[in-house]
Amino acid sequence: MPSISQGLATAVLMTLMAVPALADGDPLNGQKAFRKFAACHTVDSGGASRMGPNLHGIVGSVTAQADGFRYSDAMAQLGEEGHVWTPEELDRFLKDPRGTVPGNRMAFAGLKKDDERADVIAYLETLNGE
Ligand code: HEM
Repeated sequence: MPSISQGLATAVLMTLMAVPALADGDPLNGQKAFRKFAACHTVDSGGASRMGPNLHGIVGSVTAQADGFRYSDAMAQLGEEGHVWTPEELDRFLKDPRGTVPGNRMAFAGLKKDDERADVIAYLETLNGE
């Protein structure tokens, strides 16, 4: 029978294993994957809005702050509440956009593969320093 401390050690280990999956994203793969979505989002500094807002510097930013973009009420409300696009929140949103932010206007079913989301988020993160 495993002791409590063994159980605890396993729990800690599982948490540690779960977090690097997101942190281990490959930005180059993410850049390739993101090309499919360039019709909806530009990523260059000061880039225009398309169907969706420009995503330059989105990682770590407060939600719904792109100048001149008309967000849905649902997305705007999140921003008013001070919601921040941390890597973890982006991961949740991109897995299931409609389920995570009901009423949002992003016509996108989501990225179901954990590693693909990690790659795209790692790519978006590289744009923060540019
Ligand atoms: C992996 C692909 C995608 C990523 C990483 C992504 C990411 C995001 C993020 C982070 C936001 C919130 C932006 C903010 O708070 O300023 C957003 C909003 C939005 N995206 Fe995307 N998106 C993707 C695909 C798409 C696609 C394919 C479309 C178009 C069909 C789209 C259209 C939109 C729209 C219209 C909004 C505004 C939603 C609203 O106001 O409710 N996105 N996206």
